[in-house]
Amino acid sequence: MRSKLMVGNWKMNGSLMANASLLADVLAGMADVQCRAAVCVPAVYLAQVQTLLAGSAMGLGAQDLSAHEAGAYTGEVSADMLRDFAVRYCIIGHSERRQYHAESDVTVAIKAQRALAAGITPIVCVGESLAEREAGQTEAVVKRQLAAVIHANGHCISEIVVAYEPVWAIGTGLTATPEQAQAVHAVLRAQLQAATAHADRVSILYGGSMNPANAASLLAQPDVDGGLIGGASLKAPDFLSMLKAASR
Ligand code: PGA
Repeated sequence: MRSKLMVGNWKMNGSLMANASLLADVLAGMADVQCRAAVCVPAVYLAQVQTLLAGSAMGLGAQDLSAHEAGAYTGEVSADMLRDFAVRYCIIGHSERRQYHAESDVTVAIKAQRALAAGITPIVCVGESLAEREAGQTEAVVKRQLAAVIHANGHCISEIVVAYEPVWAIGTGLTATPEQAQAVHAVLRAQLQAATAHADRVSILYGGSMNPANAASLLAQPDVDGGLIGGASLKAPDFLSMLKAASR
């Protein structure tokens, strides 16, 4: 059985002081947490958070990496650079990057490849907009997004993590129902099964306004293997309560 994986996505939030205080509170409450857990922090805080997490069960993650290996790409951070800070996970293709930074399916697939080559687990995000859901295109959209990553990564595909994040649920307080989430997760699982004999190893996370009130029912679904949590991961009691819900 896959143990649950709960990942905080801090997005562009935090400060040296706020990070130290948040993580002190989270780590102090981790004694009865059994699930796998990580926080994906802004790149400038990787060194700080690496130190704060040393010796703890909380993994370190980044939020993006460059599609290029090295060289004249001002402002970019490479997969190998992340590896220098013992980064274990990297969010790839978050809808905010697809939307505000025009990341295509192909770019996302290359970034996933870069992560895997550096020994970092890519958390590949897929998800439909509200207009796409209303037009009945949910399945086609998420399958197209995942297909690009499968195509570029071949047999390594069993090493990725997938996050289903309906765009209309991110930061809006609207959540997919457990049934809606499970339906899409089952589609993604079937697609992975067609690509690899090891699809059962792939964790498929749900993200989009996951919170202490809805986490348990989402996590109870057979193909929901954890969560990618934005806003609620910035509040230690909320994040801890969700880590505990994933530990049952
Ligand atoms: P949210 O964000 O939990 O604040 O909706 C989730 C995400 O975007 O990863």
